Amino acid sequence: MKNNILRVVLVTLVSSCTITLFAQQAPIPQRVETLMQQMTLQEKIGQLNQYNDDWEATGPVTLDPNKAEKVKSGKVGSLLNCNSAARTRHWQELAMQSRLKIPLIFGQDVIHGYKTTFPIPLAEACSWDLEAITRSARIAAAEASAAGIHWTFAPMVDIARDPRWGRVMEGAGEDTWLGSRIAEAQVKGFQGDHPGTPGSLIACAKHYAAYGAAVGGRDYNSVDMSERQLREVYLPPFKAALDAGVGTFMTSFNDIGGFPSTANPFLLRTILKGEWAFRGFVVSDWGSVGEMINHGFAANPAEAAMKAINAGCDMDMESRCYISSLDSLVKAGKVSMDVIDDAVRRILTLKFELGLFDDPYKWCDTEREKKEIGDPAHAEAARDMARKSIVLLKNDNHVLPLSKNLKTIAVIGPLVKLVKENKGFWDVNVPGTDSSFIVSQWEGIKSKVGSQTRLLYAKGCDIGGNRRDGFAEAVKIAREADAVILSIGERRDMTGEAKSRSDITIPGVQEELLKALLETGKPVVVLINTGRPLVFPFTSEKAPAILYTWWLGSEAGNAIADVIFGDYNPSAKLTMTFPRSIGQIPIYYNHFNTGRPAQNDSDRFYRSAYIDLSLYPQYEFGYGLSYTSFTYSNLQIDKKSFKEGESAGVSFVVTNTGSVDGEEIAQLYIRDLVGSVVRPVAELKDFKKIFLKKGESATVHFVIDAEKLSFYRADMTYGPEPGEFDIMIGASSRDVRLRERVVME
Ligand code: BGC
Repeated sequence: MKNNILRVVLVTLVSSCTITLFAQQAPIPQRVETLMQQMTLQEKIGQLNQYNDDWEATGPVTLDPNKAEKVKSGKVGSLLNCNSAARTRHWQELAMQSRLKIPLIFGQDVIHGYKTTFPIPLAEACSWDLEAITRSARIAAAEASAAGIHWTFAPMVDIARDPRWGRVMEGAGEDTWLGSRIAEAQVKGFQGDHPGTPGSLIACAKHYAAYGAAVGGRDYNSVDMSERQLREVYLPPFKAALDAGVGTFMTSFNDIGGFPSTANPFLLRTILKGEWAFRGFVVSDWGSVGEMINHGFAANPAEAAMKAINAGCDMDMESRCYISSLDSLVKAGKVSMDVIDDAVRRILTLKFELGLFDDPYKWCDTEREKKEIGDPAHAEAARDMARKSIVLLKNDNHVLPLSKNLKTIAVIGPLVKLVKENKGFWDVNVPGTDSSFIVSQWEGIKSKVGSQTRLLYAKGCDIGGNRRDGFAEAVKIAREADAVILSIGERRDMTGEAKSRSDITIPGVQEELLKALLETGKPVVVLINTGRPLVFPFTSEKAPAILYTWWLGSEAGNAIADVIFGDYNPSAKLTMTFPRSIGQIPIYYNHFNTGRPAQNDSDRFYRSAYIDLSLYPQYEFGYGLSYTSFTYSNLQIDKKSFKEGESAGVSFVVTNTGSVDGEEIAQLYIRDLVGSVVRPVAELKDFKKIFLKKGESATVHFVIDAEKLSFYRADMTYGPEPGEFDIMIGASSRDVRLRERVVME
């Protein structure tokens, strides 16, 4: 009898081991199907439900005291804003108590770093350094994944042409081609070779789609545009992210032409899951399923859930419409089981690919967390990225770089000593960290200058408000100094989500403070700290030197000091046009020519601009100075006439003609002169960032092929059209140095 029982136990053990082993070795699609066969409808719906942890909120929260119970009963598939190895382990342990032990996937907005904060994405984009951008995302992934996170809601690949929109800080700027390359670089960095390896995060291309085109730059606002503009300007960075292997997409808050993106079958089913054959899953934005009631697109949560899931939105972030309504919608035949299964299959597939079913705690390792998050190499990379993101806008009479041996420097302004401000919007609130790892501008400058240099400090004024009682002290120390560094700009909560501003001039009386300091006759170097292009005509005209320092992250102070004192020669160039005045918005370089293009500011009739303003922006796309100078010469095109299917080689020489080593970003723009639909006056199609020692020259090569000449033609097919094209080599979109015409037969 005993032996029989033993035999039964053994056979059961052996066969269950065999099943487990077999199951673990089975291909993922098979493992997914096997699991789905065991799932009830409620368990399936649970996988489509994402809750916020209560530790931090990035949207309007509805507290749920029964969250733990819901996780234990399989009603939650994912949590967001749950960071630290210990906290994610806690939640995963609860998920492991559910009937089918389906692990949770933890999401978080790891936008520009985790604990080590890198520059805001718009600043990083200005480096045009794709490798550095990949490295920045890689380090963010290493730290965040060591804190238990599997999935980042980044990159934001929305094209942005309106600096009033607060979220311009989170994207790569106004250009579709560059934005696409940056999207690829970010996805590569976050996901690495395989998202299942510790050190990697699943990335999420957001916000699909056209969120950046909100009318008036007001966040969450409506969008209305032609399908041509959508496909040509706004969608390519999403496609580039997809081609780079991005695991997930997030819908956007806006409607396009009356259809909220979260329930837009044309975007989600026809394009994303149809034409582009996307195999990952789509998550809504925070509450955006439920917000369709506010849009007036759904009468109640059930209708919102029905429209969103049927349109192809697989996971509901925080609106709870799916968890409350899908069951009855399926039973009423309003949502088919196939639709539910498709969404569940996509989510489970990613969980399997992450390896969560093999080890749900793989990421919850407190030892690894300590080691990764304190790695000093990360700070070094953040400093490097920060230096590469600073744009030198003006440098009259070579005021910069300052000598480290000046006797006295006055460091003035409301941002000099601030610490957390340097992180900018969308930093992560990492448990157990204080601000001691963030280097303020004051600290950075102090550790750069020699002991013989006396540093004086005055705040001068606040960021906002109109108090001028600090001016006198600031002017006094400026008079005592050999040079003045003035740090002004925005507070970090002035740019970001729900931070659109109608007035994007420099807030408060900061420019008045600059005026007072300029009256001392001392050389003033202005640092502008912000998340967006600001409008600052007075500073542009009067300040001798301007560094646009954005929000640079944990190493801001060191990076800024490196640039001010010449240990790093600025190399960044703007990826968004800076308007002269707010009334000039939106302004971007790749506009159409129109029927009455102005040739210059005095054109009377041919003037598709304003009579009270120059045609030109303050600083154009692609603009940025260096401490050295570059010349461009000897443009050669190996075939000035070629057939579709052939390519032409372009080469030219760049020479560093200044007195220090430096880097130049040489840009290739193309204009299609006559098309079946009108084409932009210039489109960026390639660039090279090259380092040249002083006096050194290098030959730069580009290739012109059919892809670079392609667009959505009159019949909406994509491809090139025969005809003439201008090939322009520029130091910016306006500063074209070399030009040739080619013909495609
Ligand atoms: C933002 C998303 C973000 C989400 C989760 C939303 O408000 O629009 O970009 O990923 O919150 O934090």
